[in-house]
Amino acid sequence: MGEVYLDNSATTRVDPEVAEAMVHAASAAYGNPSSPHRKGLEAERLVRAARQAVARALGGVEERSIIFTSGGTEANNLAVLGAARAAARHGRHVITTAVEHSSVLEACLALGREGFDVTVLPVDSEGRVDAAAVEAALRDDTVLVSIQHVNNEVGTVQPVAAVGDLIRRRRGRGRYPLFHVDAVQSLGKFPLRPLDWGVDMMTVSAHKIHGPKGIGALFAAEGVRLAPLLFGGDQQGGLRPGTENVPGIAGFGRALDLTLEAMAAGAPDHLARLRARLLDGLRRHFPDARVNGPADPDGAAPHIVNVSFPGVRGEVLVHALAEQDIYVSTGSACHSRRGVTSHVIRALKVPDRYAQGTLRISLSRHSTEDDVDRLLEALGRLVPALAALAGRP
Ligand SMILES: Cc1ncc(COP(=O)(O)O)c(C=O)c1O
Repeated sequence: MGEVYLDNSATTRVDPEVAEAMVHAASAAYGNPSSPHRKGLEAERLVRAARQAVARALGGVEERSIIFTSGGTEANNLAVLGAARAAARHGRHVITTAVEHSSVLEACLALGREGFDVTVLPVDSEGRVDAAAVEAALRDDTVLVSIQHVNNEVGTVQPVAAVGDLIRRRRGRGRYPLFHVDAVQSLGKFPLRPLDWGVDMMTVSAHKIHGPKGIGALFAAEGVRLAPLLFGGDQQGGLRPGTENVPGIAGFGRALDLTLEAMAAGAPDHLARLRARLLDGLRRHFPDARVNGPADPDGAAPHIVNVSFPGVRGEVLVHALAEQDIYVSTGSACHSRRGVTSHVIRALKVPDRYAQGTLRISLSRHSTEDDVDRLLEALGRLVPALAALAGRP
């Protein structure tokens, strides 16, 4: 029996065709895209094709509005810090939510240290922010609202189009506040339409869609002013200087092509069916387990299930499953080694006896029914055994 990898929100396996595109970029089209000669132009063409792929994935935005970065973290930092700093003379208030990825939350905290006023909106027990609460928090000096599309730990989908709409109405003729959406977890699961949703900036990352790690992009609509985080060259309009990571960019482009094809062929429905099978199995076999996050599939991403088994510690279960060649996580990969309850689980006010035992199961379009069944079968053996060991039959 092979491995069962269900930690796809942490990262995904690179598709073979993506690896091929990366090897080609690294070993054949190895020129510097800024060089004027043939080798440079060859590399520049790969960058351009990938930029077009990102623009297509975002519903046909302008190619020149795509800035490649070292990943979702940098794109979020550039959006939050770059937009707020560039807007500082118009106002110094930013709004975000309590369940954002740390690359947004901590960038907002950094703005707080620079003298910005930061409103962190609470969420309901399913992790959802209320669009009316965003509206109520808007002030004349608000320059930025940053809200994720899909939460990486519990899969909650935020009402980004409704928020975009109210921001657009509020804005009148002025440019502010800008609206940034972290779409790292929704790329490939939902069609992304920043322009229709009133979104000025959107973050995406390659390694959640079977692309390489260390490459992502920020969409920044025409007219959005950003203060760069890096200095030193003219690449990408000076907004993100440095020789482009051509193999990473080419891999991202190929991963996007494959992802868009898979979406057209029904990948989101496949994910939703697997998620329903998993939830059904969990409910049947573990009546006292608690699903953290949205109950209704309408407000949930199709690839994430977060579940707690009372009396069983999440990290113990993660290790016990790994012994069986089954891979899941307790929550967000970037903090899973800290051993503390995540800020997302705290924001959902998950009761203590469940908060210690969260397990995040995250699917990819390559996941199968057999993967789900093997996980359920292993949980069926391990959960009662571990609960008994911990003194709770
Ligand atoms: C919602 C969300 N935003 C941002 C990131 C950061 O992306 P990257 O790992 O490419 O820096 C992640 C990845 O964990 C994420 O899940």
